[in-house]
Amino acid sequence: MSVHKKELKKVTTHRLHEMKQNGEKIAMLTAYDFSMARLLDSAGIDVLLVGDSASNVMAGHETTLPITLDQMIYHASSVVRAVERALVVVDLPFGSYQGNSGEALRSAIRIMKESGAHAVKLEGGAEVEESVARILTAGVPVMGHLGLTPQSIYKFGTYTVRAKEEAEAKKLIDDAKLLEEVGCFALVLEKIPAKLASKVASELSIPVIGIGAGLDVDGQVLVMQDMLGITQDFKPRFLRRYADLQQIITDAVGNYVHDVKSKDFPNEEEQY
Ligand code: KIV
Repeated sequence: MSVHKKELKKVTTHRLHEMKQNGEKIAMLTAYDFSMARLLDSAGIDVLLVGDSASNVMAGHETTLPITLDQMIYHASSVVRAVERALVVVDLPFGSYQGNSGEALRSAIRIMKESGAHAVKLEGGAEVEESVARILTAGVPVMGHLGLTPQSIYKFGTYTVRAKEEAEAKKLIDDAKLLEEVGCFALVLEKIPAKLASKVASELSIPVIGIGAGLDVDGQVLVMQDMLGITQDFKPRFLRRYADLQQIITDAVGNYVHDVKSKDFPNEEEQY
């Protein structure tokens, strides 16, 4: 029986805090469409992130920068319609919150109003403090994101591990504490040394969700297409593949093509 059938109590930001306090790990995955979101929700996922990684895995862009607020709202509303239990968090896309807290507030309100999502996520620390604070004034829960922040890829130049040097690690710790103080309900740490992530998770009272940040945090997040093996050329060390859907789909479609061409499909029972 799926977790969904046993317990339909909705996951809230408060529940995530309780989970951290009880030492219960938080399982989060990305989702961008109705059908997949329904499967992931019934399988017992705690948090669904409508990530701006949709720009890569759904739209085929090289970076997360091109996706628009309208496109994020489209993906988010599809996910929200599918979900009965999970908390749905939506990424504020590049250009919708940086540098102008009024615009950040308007973007967050559009996401909440037009998609029905439960929270937003944005990248950065001190640079976006004002935007985070302004969004929170409207009662919109905010999840932070530090470490490798893909919207800044042209500043970093590469997707390698962040905060290995002392100065960057110190800024990350300061930013994490600042985001907690301002009022973020949770924080994503992406691709940083496990020891640093562990230190941040132990010093913060809000849940810390890692991706490539080791085991000693409060939960894990992966991009759904990567963990299900739909994408095959993305092979970072932190990624564990739980299925090889590329092979399964390729075989199934190959069989379908064969059956159509050989006139095996449809048979007597498959017609009216
Ligand atoms: O957009 C995304 O998928 C993300 C996760 C990698 C955390 O931000």
